[in-house]
Amino acid sequence: MIVRGFFFLFLSLGLLEVLSHDGIVPLVQSLDGEWNLWNSNKSFFLPAQVPGCVHTALQQRGLIQDPYFRFNDLLYEWISLDNWTYATTFAVSKELRSKRQVLLILDGVDTVASVWLNGALVGRTDNMFRSYVFPVRELLKAEENTLLVRFLSSIVYATQRRNAHAAYAIPPECPPSVQKGQCHVNFIRKAQSSFSWDWGPSFPGAALWKGVRLEAFDSLRLVHLAALPLYDVGSSSWSLQVDALVDALQPTLAQITLDLPELLSRVAFPANIRPGAAKYTFTLSVNASADVRLWWPNGLGEQTSYRLLLTARSPDGVALLQAHSKVYFRRIELVQEPVSSSPGLSFYFRINGKPLFLKGSNWIPAHSFQDQVTPHVLTDLLRSAADANMNVLRVWGGGVYEQDAFYDACDDLGLMVWQDFMFACAMYPTEDDFIRSVREEVYQQVWRLKSHPSVIMWSANNENEAALATDWFHIPDRQRPVYLKDYVALYVDNVMAIVKQEDPSRPFLVSSPTNGAESEREGYVASDPYDPRYGDTHFYSYSADCWDWRAFPRTRFASEYGFQSWPSLSTLRPVSVAEDWSLSSRFAGHRQHHQDGNEQMLKQASVHFRLPNSSDPLTHFTHTLYLTQVMQAQCVKTQTEFYRRSRSELIGGLGNTMGALYWQLNDIWQAPSWSSIEFGGKWKMLHYLAADFFADVLPVAFEDENGTLLIYAVSDLSQDLKLRAVVSVYTWSTPDPLFTKKSDLVAVPGGSAVPVFKWPVAALLAGSGRCSRRSCLLAFRLEEGGGDQRGPANHHFLCSPKDALGLKPPDITAKVRQDETGLVVDLQSSAVAPFVWLDAGDIPGRFDANGFLMLSRNRTVAFRAGKPTSVTEFSRALRVTSLSDLYSP
Ligand SMILES: *[C@@H]1O[C@H](CO)[C@@H](O)[C@H](O)[C@H]1NC(C)=O
Ligand SMILES: *[C@@H]1O[C@H](CO)[C@@H](O)[C@H](O)[C@H]1NC(C)=O
Ligand SMILES: *[C@@H]1O[C@H](CO)[C@@H](O)[C@H](O)[C@H]1NC(C)=O
Ligand SMILES: *[C@@H]1O[C@H](CO)[C@@H](O)[C@H](O)[C@H]1NC(C)=O
Ligand SMILES: *[C@@H]1O[C@H](CO)[C@@H](O)[C@H](O)[C@H]1NC(C)=O
Ligand SMILES: *[C@@H]1O[C@H](CO)[C@@H](O)[C@H](O)[C@H]1NC(C)=O
Repeated sequence: MIVRGFFFLFLSLGLLEVLSHDGIVPLVQSLDGEWNLWNSNKSFFLPAQVPGCVHTALQQRGLIQDPYFRFNDLLYEWISLDNWTYATTFAVSKELRSKRQVLLILDGVDTVASVWLNGALVGRTDNMFRSYVFPVRELLKAEENTLLVRFLSSIVYATQRRNAHAAYAIPPECPPSVQKGQCHVNFIRKAQSSFSWDWGPSFPGAALWKGVRLEAFDSLRLVHLAALPLYDVGSSSWSLQVDALVDALQPTLAQITLDLPELLSRVAFPANIRPGAAKYTFTLSVNASADVRLWWPNGLGEQTSYRLLLTARSPDGVALLQAHSKVYFRRIELVQEPVSSSPGLSFYFRINGKPLFLKGSNWIPAHSFQDQVTPHVLTDLLRSAADANMNVLRVWGGGVYEQDAFYDACDDLGLMVWQDFMFACAMYPTEDDFIRSVREEVYQQVWRLKSHPSVIMWSANNENEAALATDWFHIPDRQRPVYLKDYVALYVDNVMAIVKQEDPSRPFLVSSPTNGAESEREGYVASDPYDPRYGDTHFYSYSADCWDWRAFPRTRFASEYGFQSWPSLSTLRPVSVAEDWSLSSRFAGHRQHHQDGNEQMLKQASVHFRLPNSSDPLTHFTHTLYLTQVMQAQCVKTQTEFYRRSRSELIGGLGNTMGALYWQLNDIWQAPSWSSIEFGGKWKMLHYLAADFFADVLPVAFEDENGTLLIYAVSDLSQDLKLRAVVSVYTWSTPDPLFTKKSDLVAVPGGSAVPVFKWPVAALLAGSGRCSRRSCLLAFRLEEGGGDQRGPANHHFLCSPKDALGLKPPDITAKVRQDETGLVVDLQSSAVAPFVWLDAGDIPGRFDANGFLMLSRNRTVAFRAGKPTSVTEFSRALRVTSLSDLYSP
């Protein structure tokens, strides 16, 4: 059958764009914009933006304060307990109504709602992670169409569902009370952290968080277009698997052309389009004479993209559709194979055939209200990750599948994404309707994301294997089989089955942490998912001394580890008042959602540092904030350096560590957390240090149990180097080296960690003449034969700074000037100054170095301001703190 007429496409498919030209005009009517919003008893009736959410709408009309201010998360609980209705009225064109099919498409409904058009129920929603498509042609009028989306409180719904699930409990029932959250979040397909988390507030509001539109067509609709690169090792050739999801009203014969103009590749063939929605898979071989440039992660090369053009014509040449998409070529493998004669399997990623150490962090939602996560917020955070030499982020399974803009930016920046499905720290129900909802969610997300080269793997849940294996929820033994069965039913029989079918191109893990292949062998729940010999691990210990690398597991892959700190005063100020500015305030207790978190931070800090003791309350508070950041930065540095230097070593079957993703990159609000970037984008000290400890070439020092100093050269480069270590001894009181020792040049192959220096600390101290562990410290760097430094300088403390002799009261002076590059700060100091911290208050921007050990009398630091500022304004805002400031009266 020959089809004439129009063919209309989705506009919002991440990589897919529609070409508009003669005869192919997408007939889409957006219903975004200003709607009305009211609560159950209409005591609130207000205009509200779509996309948007109830809290933002109320705040924009001045009906509530900033929900993040002080204790407002508790005060505004009523908003999430109420039921809200969004409504809009619209006219539609005659042309649109003349189409044979008109769909109402809601891309994001958060969460439980009924959708009414002109008084008729068109459908119900129960999952914020999927879009909903309802046929509405028969209901449309020319004028005054009324669309209502009536939300039921998520809290009420979760409780109803829990009560309906009488046979057995699905733990946890409620979050720990310190989180001040809501119960039964595992019964609703909504961001699991929206009912509270140990770093975030409870704001389970209602939202139309993505667009709403009508789409009309006469015969066919392209729902999704996706492309997967395939590499044939035997012939060293590339092809593209092109998947099209097409919705057709009737059988249609089409001539399809796929074109990769930049790679001189083209193929044309006829296709029989069946009625209904179906997937069509085509393969396009890349011309052997074309030079395919690959997509590489950050730090390893370019992120080359190509344009794929898809055209469909009817047999008599009428254009049915044209679409184009960005495509990328890269290979990804997760290698799990025996490492030695001892039990255990490797666990590392190979990108384009090259084993790669994954360096990065974990991503959480950037705001409780997703409508406030603008492209600027996303790119600022993602650039910060790339600028700190990260090459990977894990989109953690308790938040949301991120926006298209997130994955587009990751593609461009070379940030790989470890993508969890949104299940975290809980058991989940497996009723038919729950599973049905999850299946559609997984299907849609896989189609939406599978063309992104940045996405390197899927993982079905966060920590649920560990929760079951190590019995977080005290499940009686006789009931365990029920939960194991549910676990396999949800993540294996459904999530995994859909992923394997729709995207076999990527590795899939059932959980994180997991023992990977070993977990599968043990029926998907290993007896110890934290086993360092298999898969990935999550590891937290707040009580052990974090400067002692022996405290850390010698894991194959560290996907979570971290320490808390407080954000700076400039970040807290907009949501607090002066009486809150003390760690013993009600506010400081309220914002801390991790049991004993504030005490743990001070306790860990006190292992190596004197605690602030200023008699001025504000100074005491700012020093405390600073010290928690010093502690966090140094702890995560030590742990990450341990993982990086362990990449080439296998000790008793342990080691060959190939990943370090600390917890966590970003914050959801202004509160203490494990993040390295504060809410609003300001870098904590940890993030500045991460830029160094994730550098491509890095010197790492540690002492063995006999007081021998070892320095490893770590290299993530492709090429081999010859490096020596240069170690200098300094006293705390003078920024001039007393004694310097160099090692011989040592071969450092690309992608390895090699010991280059080994010398007893006592001998170094003796060589310097007048040093003890308490009066001196070591600085070191790597250099090539010609003397050029490779990688950042590093240092090693021989005692805790609290015991250091000669650590003088500060006399750092700072002068600000403007040069052709922008603002620069000239620092001068007469003594060694540890953890020098420049804080520009609420002037947004970044220093080119911060939190450093000042080992010279002069140092110049540049500031890249995020908004126009002057020398005067900047000087007024600038505060310089170093550890010694805390020790002066
Ligand atoms: C209407 O609902 C609001 C919010 O739940 C509540 O505060 C108010 O008391 C209600 N008003 C009436 C008249 O019931
Ligand atoms: C919200 O709707 C539910 C279900 O209809 C109802 O039980 C509840 O009372 C409503 N809440 C309010 C505040 O009216
Ligand atoms: C491959 O590219 C060459 C030009 O280098 C061109 O002549 C040839 O037609 C191309 N082959 C295909 C199958 O597109
Ligand atoms: C430390 O010294 C002891 C005793 O001499 C020795 O047995 C041990 O192997 C040494 N450890 C290392 C790491 O060299
Ligand atoms: C440090 O800077 C000051 C002021 O700019 C200058 O007088 C001094 O010579 C510098 N010292 C060194 C060691 O560079
Ligand atoms: C703070 O500690 C320093 C060094 O221990 C001490 O000299 C000073 O008296 C203390 N100040 C207060 C206010 O306790």
